[in-house]
Amino acid sequence: MGKLIIIEGMDGSGTTTQTKMLANYLMGLGYKVLSTAEPTNSSIGQEIRKWLKEPLEKEPDLTLLLDTPAHIAYERIASRQGPKDFYETVPMLNRLRERYVHFVQLEAKNTALIDGSASPNEVHNHVVSVISNKLERAL
Ligand SMILES: Nc1ncnc2c1ncn2[C@@H]1O[C@H](COP(=O)(O)OP(=O)(O)O)[C@@H](O)[C@H]1O
Ligand SMILES: [Mg+2]
Repeated sequence: MGKLIIIEGMDGSGTTTQTKMLANYLMGLGYKVLSTAEPTNSSIGQEIRKWLKEPLEKEPDLTLLLDTPAHIAYERIASRQGPKDFYETVPMLNRLRERYVHFVQLEAKNTALIDGSASPNEVHNHVVSVISNKLERAL
């Protein structure tokens, strides 16, 4: 039976990196993996409206929030190529972070906060261990 896992987080939190690492890891274990991404250049307001108005057809089995301090996310965005969105300032990212955390706490069922500030490998190991624990499946 397939599992729907969502890796959520604001811009710069590491969602693209962790989604790729997780997909590769699971494929390496022989799982079939279907990986999709929401557009990254949408604001939190649009995201939340989307979630409220267009509920997923299948309830996620697990939602992981990569919780990364605003100044770290900001540094990552700043060092990345490409144009910046209007909300990509440290104070705005701080507010986004609070809203994400609040949102996940409201949806406390099948959600977990993951510290996104560690190295990519450390965050990945944490992601794998949380999925393994929550879905009660050795990974
Ligand atoms: N744990 C990490 N530590 C340091 N840099 C990271 C980490 N995760 C991602 N990065 C880098 O930060 C930038 C943003 O990461 P990305 O995965 O694209 O985040 P998001 O998709 O959430 O915006 C990229 O340049 C990426 O290589
Ligand atoms: Mg991304």
